[in-house]
Amino acid sequence: MFLPCKHHALVKLTNSSAPALNRPSLSTTPTMGSQKWKDCVCAVSVVVALGSLFYAYKQKNNTTKLSHLSPPKDGVEDLIGNTPMVKIRSLSEATGLNVYAKMELNNPGGSAKDRVALNIIKTFSEEQHIHGSKDKKNRVFEGTSGSTGISLALCCNAMGFSCHISLPDDTSQEKLSLLTALGAIVNKVKPASIVDPNQYVNAAKACAESYTDGIGMFADQFENEANWKCHYATTGPEIFLQLDGKVDAFITGCGTGGTMAGVSRYLKEQRGDSVRVILADPQGSGFYNRIKYGVMYDKVEKEGTRRRHQVDTLVEGIGLNRITKNFLKAEQYIDDSVRVTDEEAIKMAKWLCINDGLFVGASTAINAVAVLKYAENLPKGSNVCIIACDSGSRHLSKFWKEALAVDNNLSLSDIV
Ligand SMILES: Cc1ncc(COP(=O)(O)O)c(C=O)c1O
Repeated sequence: MFLPCKHHALVKLTNSSAPALNRPSLSTTPTMGSQKWKDCVCAVSVVVALGSLFYAYKQKNNTTKLSHLSPPKDGVEDLIGNTPMVKIRSLSEATGLNVYAKMELNNPGGSAKDRVALNIIKTFSEEQHIHGSKDKKNRVFEGTSGSTGISLALCCNAMGFSCHISLPDDTSQEKLSLLTALGAIVNKVKPASIVDPNQYVNAAKACAESYTDGIGMFADQFENEANWKCHYATTGPEIFLQLDGKVDAFITGCGTGGTMAGVSRYLKEQRGDSVRVILADPQGSGFYNRIKYGVMYDKVEKEGTRRRHQVDTLVEGIGLNRITKNFLKAEQYIDDSVRVTDEEAIKMAKWLCINDGLFVGASTAINAVAVLKYAENLPKGSNVCIIACDSGSRHLSKFWKEALAVDNNLSLSDIV
């Protein structure tokens, strides 16, 4: 880089000082030839110098870009959060809105639940002065068949705790394998109602209470306020910053309600009613009726029609038929709700994959369908943010098994 600059200095010397000193000899013919030669060398040198300057400028720009990369982190837990956001071009073009996905699937454990797991462990550690250790004798217990178990197992490993997950015995093999690979102790129980003491969440609580080898912590993601608080402290502000404060609508589903509570509270505090908060709800879940009519009920709960699972949908992670503390924290900020069927979600998952290169799980597809259904209520050009909670690879054996069968050439009018 510096060589051409030296050449440049040389050119200056040859052009000004040197000819002045040699002026008498300039009149002879052979010197005239050598003068042309010198001019030629000068011209080439100038071109080389300019080229080099341009190259140096480009390099400087590249270096500036690289300097935006964050410095090395202290541990895997420090990689959680600060997820990217991407425009969903196909939905933006179709609706006239700017539709963005907050890529929570980019967290190290593959979902937004990393934030929750981390904050639950941190809060326990701070409040009860518990530390992780090499022997991992202090243990986190949770009842979950979803992403939270995976995130807890990952955070426990990174922070020196052991992890014990209770789940229904019909949980998919891929999730069981993942939890086992992460070193979690897996306790399979028969699927049961939440009022049954053997239901997996109750089983997890009982296991935590009877643990004596160290301190047992019951994560309790549905009731634990560390859940919504981490979204209020991180996910909400990140979304706000990434859209330069211009968030006109936020659309997501509720499982525990933690994401909805934390993000919507933050956005409403910043934007007031300029931001619309919409709950996307899968079939079989009671949240839609709760928001629309104040009653937590779905027709699948009618006498004699209840299924093996509480919420009758292929969609995992969102939808519920009971009120939890985290949902109660969210409810006051929710403006409206949109109901989405499994069929719509399955088609949307295929659409996003084929048209945008977004390979997402079921809850993200539900959120994207809700954008289409709600779009006409928003002014053109509005910025809409949805949560892309996890990847399609978490759902290959169930939800994506159905989505594989959908024609690649489907259009948006085939979805809703
Ligand atoms: C895949 C997926 N999406 C969305 C959610 C909903 O998040 P929240 O529990 O914050 O309502 C969950 C919750 O477990 C989930 O697993």
